[in-house]
Amino acid sequence: MPLILETVVTTRSPDGSVHLVPFGLIQDGAEWVLAPFRPSPTILNLDASPVFAASSPRDVRVIAGAVTGRRDWRTVPCDVIPGVRLAESFGHAEFEVIAVEEDETRPRYRGRMVHTASHTPFIGYNRAQAAVLEAAILSTRLHMLDSDKILTEMRYHAIAISKTAGPAEREAWDWIEDKVAAALGRTDRVLANPDAAARDAALRRNP
Ligand SMILES: Cc1cc2nc3c(=O)[nH]c(=O)nc-3n(C[C@H](O)[C@H](O)[C@H](O)COP(=O)(O)O)c2cc1C
Repeated sequence: MPLILETVVTTRSPDGSVHLVPFGLIQDGAEWVLAPFRPSPTILNLDASPVFAASSPRDVRVIAGAVTGRRDWRTVPCDVIPGVRLAESFGHAEFEVIAVEEDETRPRYRGRMVHTASHTPFIGYNRAQAAVLEAAILSTRLHMLDSDKILTEMRYHAIAISKTAGPAEREAWDWIEDKVAAALGRTDRVLANPDAAARDAALRRNP
């Protein structure tokens, strides 16, 4: 399997409006492939203007927000391509699309990295941020998964939230929890009882 970097991708529509969404960038040698599922505004934007920026947000609320209807994050102009990037990030890269592999389900846009920049020192990994990232991805696949699997994964991710989250990660997690609860028709929250979640997870590991 190739390396995939989870980023926040920004593209612009012909009328200039910004589209900001989390996407995995698939490494292929020196190139990076963006593969959006149809239908997608990202596809329309790339077909009209074949450039994109990919950013690593410092604040995981950008990722959780983008998949829960909160996409109004500040952007600034890119350095090289005619596009914009997320304003607050550890760093970003700018890409020109050099080839498109058409596909009815998931076209692949092959990007050549034409510029990178660092913006904030990266001091260390945080488990809660990783948990929000995983839960955010899960929350975009709710229609494909059964509720037991969704709850099992959410309970596992909730352990890292309860042990290592700061306020931003808690808020991001709450947005995802609300989305998952609504999809499953539940009123309770996994994180309402993180000890039970941890016990459940331990039991599953050592039944
Ligand atoms: C970390 C992360 C990575 C994602 N990667 C992809 C991806 O590679 N392809 C995809 O179609 N959707 C991916 N998604 C889901 C999209 O962000 C989400 O479905 C979005 O609404 C699709 O963008 P669109 O508005 O251009 O259709 C990812 C979500 C997250 C949270």
